[in-house]
Amino acid sequence: MKLVIFNGSPRYKKSNSALLTEQFLKGYNRFCPEPVPVYYLANYKQREAAAEIFKQAETVLLIFPLYTDCMPGIVKEFFENIAGESYSPAKKVGVIVQSGFPESIHAEGLERYLKKLVLRLNCEYLGTMIKGGVEGIQSMPPSMTRKLYGKFQVLGEYFAQNNSFEPGITEKFRKPYRFSRTYIVIFTLLSKTGITNFYWNGQLKKNGAFEKRFARPYLD
Ligand SMILES: Cc1cc2nc3c(=O)[nH]c(=O)nc-3n(C[C@H](O)[C@H](O)[C@H](O)COP(=O)(O)O)c2cc1C
Repeated sequence: MKLVIFNGSPRYKKSNSALLTEQFLKGYNRFCPEPVPVYYLANYKQREAAAEIFKQAETVLLIFPLYTDCMPGIVKEFFENIAGESYSPAKKVGVIVQSGFPESIHAEGLERYLKKLVLRLNCEYLGTMIKGGVEGIQSMPPSMTRKLYGKFQVLGEYFAQNNSFEPGITEKFRKPYRFSRTYIVIFTLLSKTGITNFYWNGQLKKNGAFEKRFARPYLD
């Protein structure tokens, strides 16, 4: 199996996608020691070369963040570059979509699109793994990411042996599909204290955008 991974995050090597890929490969290399090439679509040269690399690969894993309930533009560009061909012999293609919101319902529409796309390319669809609640892992202490990273290592181990996603973890990652009513009530009450915006306000301040958070530039 000649595996190739494409990272579709605009954050390039500093992305959550890169961190999760690193853990996946830790597990993968325990069973398949040969190095797996990882290409970054955020890098212009690598994005230019990506369609040809896709053509040569036997198995492809694509990992990217959910952006406005869909995909980053660089991923769409990549899809446009590989579309219109029928790949033979059929290659296996799996996708990992990770997102900020914890509910997997956000990525459901995209999942349908991805399945259709992969089948139209005449490739074998390995499925789309959806993992929500990933934003923030960069600033979490190791004790908070241990479980998630451990699961990504198990996914890598399983993938190396079976060339597919481990079904148990894939199912667990999809939870919550939707928050319960009770959770929504608790969250609404908590949001009144400001605690739920703590991280996001920190990001706005870090980027000098806090004062402009209610700006509506297109109204002028
Ligand atoms: C422009 C932008 C749009 C985003 N849109 C969504 C979204 O629609 N739904 C969601 O759950 N997360 C959304 N996120 C959060 C990212 O999916 C999340 O932070 C992800 O872990 C980032 O991964 P990366 O570091 O690999 O790019 C968005 C983030 C950005 C920067």
